[in-house]
Amino acid sequence: MAETNTPNPGGAEFPAPYGTGPAANDSAISADRQPAGRIRIHHLQQAKDSGRRFAMLTAYEQYTAEIFDQAGIEVLLVGDSASNNVFGNETSLPVTVDELLPLCRAVARSAKRALVVADLPFGSYEVSTHQAVASGVRFLKEGLAHAVKIEGGSFYAETVRAMVQAGIPVLAHIGFTPQSEHALGGYRVQGRGDGAQGLIEDAIALSEAGAFGVLMEMVPAAVAEAVDSAVSVPTIGIGAGRATTGQVLVWQDMTGLRGGRMAKFVKQYANLRTILSDAAQTYGDEVRSGQFPGPEHSF
Ligand code: KIV
Repeated sequence: MAETNTPNPGGAEFPAPYGTGPAANDSAISADRQPAGRIRIHHLQQAKDSGRRFAMLTAYEQYTAEIFDQAGIEVLLVGDSASNNVFGNETSLPVTVDELLPLCRAVARSAKRALVVADLPFGSYEVSTHQAVASGVRFLKEGLAHAVKIEGGSFYAETVRAMVQAGIPVLAHIGFTPQSEHALGGYRVQGRGDGAQGLIEDAIALSEAGAFGVLMEMVPAAVAEAVDSAVSVPTIGIGAGRATTGQVLVWQDMTGLRGGRMAKFVKQYANLRTILSDAAQTYGDEVRSGQFPGPEHSF
């Protein structure tokens, strides 16, 4: 893929960002609330074909979905990472379809431009192609998602094929797949040494089965680049270097809301944990001292 220092040169090929699309001239609705056209899977393919990049973030509820969407993030992922970032579990394994569906609905209702991808959680697609299609249908029908993501290599090519035939766009997730963390022996970089060829074969099999994209997690940059060159569909990386078409991060990591140790691949663009903590402490202090509510907050 062509390297460039200019983010998204020619980025206008994505539907226009908020407030800049033709509908923004409609004075009946304020410009910054304009739906500017939905990003669809063919726009991601165009990005790959023309050497442009796109950004993806997780979102699990209304306000972050709205903020990220209006900030121009092209893809929102209702990740099963909600398990450990919303529901308080240690891993992504316990979260269920029924827990994720309402989060997905909230994100899909709130994002007017972004493509909304939902994770099929552990246990909702492995049993049979029938189970995978049924779960995918629930996410599109009840969750209002535009596409789903499943974890796993070429073994799941038939599953992808069945889902795509049923009209469900599928993003394939390979490399480190958190739902298999026990089978993989913990959080480890995948595709090193002999494993590289296996990853390339997985990506080819899944894209030939109809996956609209391949997401790679914790894969050496050079291997991710080889995978990206081996498939025509867009690739998305998390801890997979710079050569992929898109990048994804978990929003609580990227904004510094989550505390604790961060993976090497996380860049923190804010420190929301400190901002929220300071606000809560000041509020608590003001309530205890009688400073809040003041006359301006009273009827
Ligand atoms: O659930 C999730 O957040 C993910 C990302 C790590 C890609 O699958």
